[in-house]
Amino acid sequence: MNYHTATELAQIGNHSDKQTGAVSAPIYLSTTFSHPELGHSTGYDYTRTKNPTRTILEEALAKLEGGSHGIVTSSGMSAIQLVFNYFPAKSEFLVSRDLYGGSYRYFQELERQSAAVFHYFDDFDSLKSQLTEKIDAVFLETPTNPLMQEVSIADTAKLAQQKQSLLIVDNTFSTPLRQQPLKAGADIVVHSGTKFLSGHNDILAGVVVAKDSDIGEKLAWLSNTTGPTLSSFDSWLFIRSLKTLKVRFEQQERNAQEIAEALGQFPQVEKVLYPGIGGMISFLVTDASKITHFLTQLQLITFAESLGGVETLITYPTTQTHADIPQELRESYGLTDNLLRLSIGIEDSQDLLTDLTQAFNVFDD
Ligand SMILES: Cc1ncc(COP(=O)(O)O)c(C=O)c1O
Repeated sequence: MNYHTATELAQIGNHSDKQTGAVSAPIYLSTTFSHPELGHSTGYDYTRTKNPTRTILEEALAKLEGGSHGIVTSSGMSAIQLVFNYFPAKSEFLVSRDLYGGSYRYFQELERQSAAVFHYFDDFDSLKSQLTEKIDAVFLETPTNPLMQEVSIADTAKLAQQKQSLLIVDNTFSTPLRQQPLKAGADIVVHSGTKFLSGHNDILAGVVVAKDSDIGEKLAWLSNTTGPTLSSFDSWLFIRSLKTLKVRFEQQERNAQEIAEALGQFPQVEKVLYPGIGGMISFLVTDASKITHFLTQLQLITFAESLGGVETLITYPTTQTHADIPQELRESYGLTDNLLRLSIGIEDSQDLLTDLTQAFNVFDD
């Protein structure tokens, strides 16, 4: 039976333990599982390969993204690494110009090792002109981190299919609640599970979901081979958090819509970058030299680098999340020193606005 998303989420793990009826899925800490006899297995042999707590999470995530296989890993970066491991050496990739700085750093490293070749696109036209038969896969964020640029997954998927390239989408910002890339034609979805999906700033996790079983099985095989697996305790925390994803995300989005609109009214704000959905807002201030003081003035909003959690965070991409992108390159595509990024939490939006308003006073000093 297929229920609505809120129901599916709230029920993750319930009815999984027939023997005791535990409503909260048990945490199987065992790393190894006994075999009834030679040549027979319970389905679980060794935790790197498969663990009952992790299986509940992986199946729930596969269902949420509409894929055949879900794999959870120890961080978003290990999820991305697992996916790039799928491709043979020297493969060529076409990727978003604006993207998480850690992904850029990893792609640079692959190029330095001559393990892969990367081409970057700024918009759909440049994607279209560079997407030739030699591209093995397109990797994109939409909206991008932190400039919130959007690209159509469905249009990109059509082009990629024509050129027999795979399409990989980092769905961290929108979550499957707002965008299901596999249903729009993508082949693989990745997430930093550290962000909205787990949502409490207390676990580091990554997610890979594949549409086709062949790709999913190969990725599961690679995950067992290289071992970036998430522990069973963190898998349980992830399950616990996923149950409230919809209520958290909707509150974050409502708050973000209100705050994005209000930010546009501040004379200290030059431009607001908000795609209308989700909990992430970037904005450009009129005077970058005031940022240091502005950040120390905030009382409620926390200056820290991450996103998607219940607590509102503010990040300065220039020195934090995107510090590994050379300044000249960053500035060439609009990631300038006067940009700040907000990850809106579930607090009362009035309190968040009051905090921003008092901190903006430093621009008058
Ligand atoms: C869009 C995006 N993808 C991937 C990652 C990497 O995830 P993690 O920090 O869990 O390794 C991040 C981290 O900020 C991110 O913002």
